[in-house]
Amino acid sequence: MKISILFIPLGIATLVLANGDSTTSVFEVPLVRNPTYRGDFQAQMQKMRNRYGSPETIAAAKKGVGLVPVTSPAFDTEYYGPVKIGTPGQTFNMNFDTGSADIWVASSTCSTTTCKSHRRFNSSSSTTFRLDPAKRRFRIEYGDGSYANGPIGTDMVNVGGIQIRQTIGLATNESADFEVSKMDGMFGLAFSSYESVPGVKTFMTNAIAKKAVALPVVSAYLPSLRRSGGKGGHYLFGAIDSTKFHGNLTYVPVTVKGYWQVTVQDVLVSGQSLNRSYQGIVDTGTTLVILDDKTTAAVHSKIKGAYFDKQEQGWVVPCSLSKAQTGSVGFRLAGRVFEVPMADIAWEPVGKGKGKLGGEICYSGVQSIDSPVWILGDVFIKNNYCVFDQSAIPSVGIAPLQ
Ligand SMILES: *[C@@H]1O[C@H](CO)[C@@H](O)[C@H](O)[C@H]1NC(C)=O
Ligand SMILES: *[C@@H]1O[C@H](CO)[C@@H](O)[C@H](O)[C@H]1NC(C)=O
Ligand SMILES: *[C@@H]1O[C@H](CO)[C@@H](O)[C@H](O)[C@H]1NC(C)=O
Ligand SMILES: *[C@@H]1O[C@H](CO)[C@@H](O)[C@H](O)[C@H]1NC(C)=O
Repeated sequence: MKISILFIPLGIATLVLANGDSTTSVFEVPLVRNPTYRGDFQAQMQKMRNRYGSPETIAAAKKGVGLVPVTSPAFDTEYYGPVKIGTPGQTFNMNFDTGSADIWVASSTCSTTTCKSHRRFNSSSSTTFRLDPAKRRFRIEYGDGSYANGPIGTDMVNVGGIQIRQTIGLATNESADFEVSKMDGMFGLAFSSYESVPGVKTFMTNAIAKKAVALPVVSAYLPSLRRSGGKGGHYLFGAIDSTKFHGNLTYVPVTVKGYWQVTVQDVLVSGQSLNRSYQGIVDTGTTLVILDDKTTAAVHSKIKGAYFDKQEQGWVVPCSLSKAQTGSVGFRLAGRVFEVPMADIAWEPVGKGKGKLGGEICYSGVQSIDSPVWILGDVFIKNNYCVFDQSAIPSVGIAPLQ
């Protein structure tokens, strides 16, 4: 849903969290219940997917596999990678977002400072662009209050070699929030029911229908700056790279199609159960992990030196936690616990702490908003390979990173 933590040029970060209104409105979309799945779901999925996952099969497949390398700025705020739009292709750095469905870039006809701070799409210089005959417009507002709107059209969209005709939004009005962001536009990976223009289908839905992808999946490998130096991450369209994770993927069934919504069965702090279950969405477009107030407080009550900083309006932890060799915040999904190491709970430095322990304090990677679902954002995904599988029974395949 894109809850980015945005930087203001002084290098001071502000926590930009959703207000209740914008999140709640998104949930008014009619919800499609997932059919019940049989108990041997894991085994079935393993059997199906084991035929594909190896790097050899990925290389052999070539057709129907699109690799998009991603980059992330400091503190893994957002992950973006190149997409070509139009003929000849114009290249844009897109933020792939499993928490929204629209694809949009700024239009070359938009000459505000915000639009001009990024590459803009010039539809006049694409021989394949078609403006929407019904003159419909997209209009999207994200969880952090940022927004974009403008006309829609279709054009050839090329994602790592997978090319199809796809609806795109041409933003003629973007909120100033995007000025500080390194990405040129958003690439929605949620379900078609969350498109802001009813009836428009997502890139993945179209690519699956046209058999343009070898598998109906998008795999997210988003290693942290800490692990990878900000390089080597990818989104893999139509394939799974089994060299990037340990063991087998656990397939967590989607409970409500819209976001990639799943049941989180429990939260554990360094192995200690908090005995809390909730609906959660796996969201590449959100920087942190977002839980409800009560659970967020419970998590931090088990972290020495953590407290809610009224001035910063966020939970903070001692920055020294970033050197922790042990401990984790874990989430139980489909019976297996997936961890975020304590070292990744110390997120961005805030300054001198007021806590009993003194020293530098950092924002916590776990924050709270008043939302009907928890959000497993990049802090979770940068430690766990996630496969967004749009099969008949959709699921998120998850395994810890190598
Ligand atoms: C868009 O492309 C057309 C045709 O190539 C060109 O005439 C026009 O100047 C371009 N517009 C912008 C804003 O670059
Ligand atoms: C841009 O969009 C915002 C949010 O929908 C709206 O409030 C504003 O009036 C729009 N500005 C223009 C110039 O259309
Ligand atoms: C992975 O799944 C396969 C097929 O179900 C199974 O044979 C194998 O033991 C599993 N490996 C691990 C490490 O769990
Ligand atoms: C866990 O929570 C459930 C529901 O709130 C409660 O019934 C149960 O007793 C709790 N279990 C433990 C071990 O605290």
